Amino acid sequence: MKLLVTGGCGFIGSNFLNLFAPLHGEVSFLNWDGLFYAANPHSLLSLENSENYRFRKIDLADSEAVHAAFQEDRPDAVLHLAAESHVDRSIKSAEPFLRSNVLGTLNLLSAASALGEQFKGPFVQMSTDEVFGSVEEPDAFTEDSPYHPNNPYAASKAAADHFASAYAHTHNLSVRIVHCSNNYGPRQQPEKLIPLMVLNALQRKPLPVYGRGEQVRDWIFVGDHCRALWQILTEGQDGRHYMVGAGNTQRNLDMVRSICQRVARLQGAPEQELLDLIQFVQDRPGHDPRYAVDASRTSRDLGWEPAESFDSGLDLTVKWYLDNPDWVEKAQNPEHHQWLKEHYGGIL
Ligand code: DAU
Repeated sequence: MKLLVTGGCGFIGSNFLNLFAPLHGEVSFLNWDGLFYAANPHSLLSLENSENYRFRKIDLADSEAVHAAFQEDRPDAVLHLAAESHVDRSIKSAEPFLRSNVLGTLNLLSAASALGEQFKGPFVQMSTDEVFGSVEEPDAFTEDSPYHPNNPYAASKAAADHFASAYAHTHNLSVRIVHCSNNYGPRQQPEKLIPLMVLNALQRKPLPVYGRGEQVRDWIFVGDHCRALWQILTEGQDGRHYMVGAGNTQRNLDMVRSICQRVARLQGAPEQELLDLIQFVQDRPGHDPRYAVDASRTSRDLGWEPAESFDSGLDLTVKWYLDNPDWVEKAQNPEHHQWLKEHYGGIL
């Protein structure tokens, strides 16, 4: 199988490739990435000399480039992970989300359809649980939840999902859509809650909690999500929506406190010193109060279960950021991003 992974230099993509490329020598992994701000090819250094891995720098919003690259690479299946994914950025400026998430997805769908029968599929569309809006305690989103995106990021993902379903219906494309809850783990861009709090805590910087920290998110360790993606790709059914989550709902404030506790333990510092860094700041506009995912159907159909508990996953994550200051330095340094763009200008 030739598997095209888009956004392979991002958080979920790099975890997926690091996990599965060494395990599956029989699969050719193509990584298409635009190397925008959240990408970091250094997350994939260990694969650079692998026979079954190839990187292509490409802007998915460029229709001509996507069609040409598809004709050249002729992938059998697509795992479409590339996306603008940070809600706060979409509130400040939604246009990059329309461009990357909607146009980028549309171009891929159209290029896959253009291959006709030669594209076996599936095309796995990485959506999010946020397309369903917010859900009240004690309920959780299921495959049957109605779409109700509340922020521009979620709206762009919902639009992309609808294009994917429409291509399945109209062009007979083999499509599977995945709705996962909040991911955390190694190599996550430090603008997201967990890496931001871990790094700020390690550096004794303020920990900005939006509003009163009452919102609830459902957390899953990224490796568990990647294993679900592999199963959906290889054993899933066309036309299905798959819910993925680990059933770990947490209030944001409790999550930040758990991080403080771990950083204090790892650094041998008093926990209160870390807790004192918490600052309540202005809330996110239109902040969704609660996400929760019911992944029981995915578990039942695929026999998939998350392996990490909330405690083991968070321990592992905090330790990873502590042990990888080089990666952190690169992820936070804009000059390094410029260098990456120049260095990875073409196909490697
Ligand atoms: O639910 C899945 C989604 O989870 C993914 O589709 C998105 O790509 C991903 O970004 C994430 O969205 P969230 O908005 O939930 O993630 P974020 O890490 O930005 O924020 C998590 C919660 O923490 C949210 O309620 C806002 C809050 N927060 C976030 C930041 C960055 C804070 O209180 N302070 C912060 O500094």
